Amino acid sequence: MKDAFDGSTIEILYVKGYVANLPLSESLSYNPRATGKQCQPPTNRRRIRGNGLQDEPMAQSGEDFRTIWLKPDDPTVVQIIDQRLLPHEYRVHDLRSWEDGLVAIADMYVRGAPLIGATAAWSLYLAALSDNEPEKAVRNAAAALLESRPTAVNLRWAVERILAVVDGRQGDAALAGLIRTDANAICDEDIEISRGIGEHGVALLEAISSGKGGATVNVLTHCNAGSLATINWGTATAPIYFAHQRGIAVHVWVDETRPRNQGSQLTAWELAANDVPHTLIVDNAGGHLMQHGDVDVVITGTDRTTRCGDVANKIGTYLKALAAADNNIPFYVALPSTTIDWQSRDGIAEIPIEQRDSAEVRDIHGLCEGKRMRVRTTAENTPVSNFAFDVTPARLITGLITERGICEASEAGLLGLFPEKAAS
Ligand code: MRU
Repeated sequence: MKDAFDGSTIEILYVKGYVANLPLSESLSYNPRATGKQCQPPTNRRRIRGNGLQDEPMAQSGEDFRTIWLKPDDPTVVQIIDQRLLPHEYRVHDLRSWEDGLVAIADMYVRGAPLIGATAAWSLYLAALSDNEPEKAVRNAAAALLESRPTAVNLRWAVERILAVVDGRQGDAALAGLIRTDANAICDEDIEISRGIGEHGVALLEAISSGKGGATVNVLTHCNAGSLATINWGTATAPIYFAHQRGIAVHVWVDETRPRNQGSQLTAWELAANDVPHTLIVDNAGGHLMQHGDVDVVITGTDRTTRCGDVANKIGTYLKALAAADNNIPFYVALPSTTIDWQSRDGIAEIPIEQRDSAEVRDIHGLCEGKRMRVRTTAENTPVSNFAFDVTPARLITGLITERGICEASEAGLLGLFPEKAAS
């Protein structure tokens, strides 16, 4: 794997001050001729005041924003945002092979359960393109991709969906085209799912706002379950973006989210791009804020939710749920149905928890006098564990916000919204 700050294999398409001077057609435009209705590159550009990131393409959850798309004029290349470099730099990274997709998932160029699933689907499209035995190539790639991030179940969901397309099509030259259509559909559907989550979730924020006589609703979130973690809009952030657009005063407490800092580096970045008021806090501040009445509601995403409503999410989510319960603060989890693992019931016993490289804990990354730096913060021989996720039991969750509505975190609640899964 490449170091996040190595950058040697990454094509730099967006450089500060460079894209701003190009007409859109030369830098980010989407060519419908090449792709039909395809994943589009993000076309939004906004000026962010006061933080030095000006006139760059932004993670603004407008209609056109996407986190993965086919390269305009070259449908053999899939493009993603290299999220390892945010918020300091916005680069688009080319995936030219399924192995590139594997690295992007495992090394977290892309992250967030829905985007991981979509990237896997597009990687299988690249696998089909790469070989004159496409079906075999896809199966081979699928086996490797499934191992890359064990907790986020959207990965398995997307791979199985593409394998169903491939099934029985040995030697079919049209296979890559069929996978491409389905990978596109996965992306399009994910956007509509996030929109549904936003529509249902915004009602909660509206109710809290009117309960407070229109005073600012303070939401606490953990990790990044935003546009960057999905194709657009996010899951936990969709209700927030919808509320903000509808004029509901909302403010977000953003947990830093050690060790990969998805909160400080991604959530804060995209909230800023959307002009949503927010404040970064260290991971352990949430309980204190709750005790002082500064949090009205907690909304997080999830990487895997069991059919009984247990939720795996970024490490530290469970502690937020405990603190919320102790302070009588509603704790909601926003999720697309693609994140429900209908085969598992007991999250603590059954959900595999990814453990990542100890270097993520030992080292911090950042800018020093304008240069990217990696700094070791521990003694060389300090033993480290790096659990990437934890499980919040259903009993601590006030409700699950899905694309079909809000339900109790329980089997009955989920089956009430997804009755077709009763037999699965
Ligand atoms: O390790 P990551 O960054 O992939 O973890 C992401 C999360 O934990 C998100 O909260 C989750 O995937 C939900 S994304 C809509």
